[in-house]
Amino acid sequence: MRDFLRASDFTAHDIERMFSLATSLKVPVQQHQPLDLLHGRSAAMIFQKPSLRTRATFDIGIYQLGGHAIYLGPTEISLGQRESVYDVAKNLERWVDIIIARVYSQSDIEELAEAAKPPVINALSNDEHPCQSMADLFTLYEHGIRNKDMRLAFVGDGNNVCASLMINAVTLGADVRVASPKGYAPPQKSIEIAEKLAAENGGSLRIMEDPKEAVKGANAVYTDTWASMHTESESEKRKHIFRPYQVNTELLKNAEAGAKVMHCLPAHRGEELTDEVMDGPNSVVFDQAENRLHIQKAIILECLGLAESAVARLKYTYAAAGE
Ligand code: CP
Ligand code: NVA
Repeated sequence: MRDFLRASDFTAHDIERMFSLATSLKVPVQQHQPLDLLHGRSAAMIFQKPSLRTRATFDIGIYQLGGHAIYLGPTEISLGQRESVYDVAKNLERWVDIIIARVYSQSDIEELAEAAKPPVINALSNDEHPCQSMADLFTLYEHGIRNKDMRLAFVGDGNNVCASLMINAVTLGADVRVASPKGYAPPQKSIEIAEKLAAENGGSLRIMEDPKEAVKGANAVYTDTWASMHTESESEKRKHIFRPYQVNTELLKNAEAGAKVMHCLPAHRGEELTDEVMDGPNSVVFDQAENRLHIQKAIILECLGLAESAVARLKYTYAAAGE
């Protein structure tokens, strides 16, 4: 069993195995076939922040695998306030098989994982959003953009989504460029992790300020909100600073023709990207949202040490269905 707290927890081999498992997991869902891989198992979902996609996809995914998930929202447990992170972990481990947590501080999720026996999955922290980056790269994989063929530009705030994305992408050998205004580049610590992984896996990372330069020749262009849930108070100031970083038709002229347009959502239409590109033929934003469901099931099975038995079961299911 293992935790998934940071994008760097997964090697290239892990990521590729999970892409393959997620691909197989899609079929039974489309055929409304239940898979009881998590039968008798329960999950706790701690959320300190709001969520549509993450909450829905973990809940539905666990249901589809035959398990049971409970949602513990900000007002229910007030992590670290009503009760210490350690005590919450020590209670939960008596009841559940896996803990999924969306927190502010990365150190809270690290502490949760340290204290609790069951695996812990990071469902977003101020520093990282690794389930999102797994879904994003799985989406590109499905669209045939894989490993060293991936030329990914991230335009905007060097935030949690950017950090996990660049780390997982260079682990797969991608060429990654990040363009952010001065003072909004990803944290130095994440850059160093990504640079090390790029060197080990044949990928590359360049951090710059010019969005046009970043998207030049890219086959995928990614953006996210200019103000995240933990930087919301700076929203107005950031609208002004980030204006030249909008992903629009004009900027995309510098990318490869047909470059995929990506966003983790929720989007602020008219700010970090225009309706035209978000609703355009090259947008994969709703594929990314759908794939949260499939890849997170693979991540849960991996963290519970059930990935191999899932592969065997899926083969049997296909054989039984004559496929
Ligand atoms: N992309 C994402 O994590 O969305 P939510 O905040 O709605 O979960
Ligand atoms: N960067 C955003 C991602 C939301 C899914 C945030 O942290 O609010």
